[in-house]
Amino acid sequence: MPHCAIVGTGFYVPDRVVTNEELTHLMDTSDEWIVERTGIRERRWVPEGMSGAEMARRASEAALEEAGLEASEVDAIVLATLSPDHFFPGTGVFLQRELGIPGVPAIDLRAQCSGFLYGLSVCDAFIRSGQYRTILLVGVEIHSTGLDMSTRGRDLAVLFGDGAGAVVLRATDEEGRGVLSTHIHADGRFAEILWAEYSSSARHPRIDAEVLAQGRHYPTMQGREVFKHAVVRMPEAVMEALETNGLTTEDIDLLIPHQANQRISEMVRRRLKLPEEKLVDNIARYGNTTAATIPIALAEAVRDGRLERGDLLCMVAFGSGFTWASALVRW
Ligand code: ACO
Repeated sequence: MPHCAIVGTGFYVPDRVVTNEELTHLMDTSDEWIVERTGIRERRWVPEGMSGAEMARRASEAALEEAGLEASEVDAIVLATLSPDHFFPGTGVFLQRELGIPGVPAIDLRAQCSGFLYGLSVCDAFIRSGQYRTILLVGVEIHSTGLDMSTRGRDLAVLFGDGAGAVVLRATDEEGRGVLSTHIHADGRFAEILWAEYSSSARHPRIDAEVLAQGRHYPTMQGREVFKHAVVRMPEAVMEALETNGLTTEDIDLLIPHQANQRISEMVRRRLKLPEEKLVDNIARYGNTTAATIPIALAEAVRDGRLERGDLLCMVAFGSGFTWASALVRW
């Protein structure tokens, strides 16, 4: 049975840097509050008119270049996002069009902050089964157009940023290389803890003037609840992955947690008793880009020379749904 190896990584973030200070002109907040509670110093926002598909294309091109492959060699696209460019069709088909590879299947996947690892799980199964040999897996998010940038929405508005990350996955027969296992979970009892209620196909009309006036089309979050669950589920998912493979925390060379909040990542690292240098942490520069945080952090880690062939990479995520997931990869 072939294994699924990550053979290329890439990312794209918009040029526009939005500092915490800039946000203080839009809402009642401060650089101190944001840095202390989240570790975030700045994030990127798309310029008017830039689509998620365009960011995804740029990240994908970087990943394909690193892999030394042409887009025409891709057998399937899996794209994770909670902020699709349109209700339908999914962003995946727009990415496919931008890459110029008609006929290739494009699957949109919705698992919020865990989207990239859910996607990795799906791609791993496709590759192991022999259905596809080369898959482009992308996480992309545009948050800046969908947040309440007034004081009313400050708890969420300061956290999120825009960006895209991509990996090229390929079948390999090399023993011991590639994805060792993936572990995906969900608990829908907590769906409304972090969600966007509107626009909703379950309502008629899906959105109206009153909803807009009340700002109920913006996402809402019970931050403390999310925090509480994240710091339990993430270490649990890492241990599940390690135990499945007969490994221990000491075997981990690099941990890439979903970048939701520096305090969450730090708590996860401590609970796993990992030294600081094994943690990838770029939230200060990009904020939370949801499905894109892990592939962006991975692409940066590769560019910084933090992964060598044979290293054990652990990735873990938690987010809206609730959903959570982990994966172990032998680099
Ligand atoms: N600037 C200034 N003050 C703020 C801001 C802000 N941006 N946002 C909230 N506050 C105020 C609140 O109104 C509250 O004021 P009050 O005490 O007068 O009512 C005070 O700060 C404390 O608010 P809390 O929500 O209790 O602050 P907390 O310490 O819990 O930190 C935070 C909030 C950072 C959101 C935290 O709960 C958290 O990190 N939760 C995890 C959720 C998360 O990271 N979600 C990201 C998406 S999900 C994911 O990716 C996992």
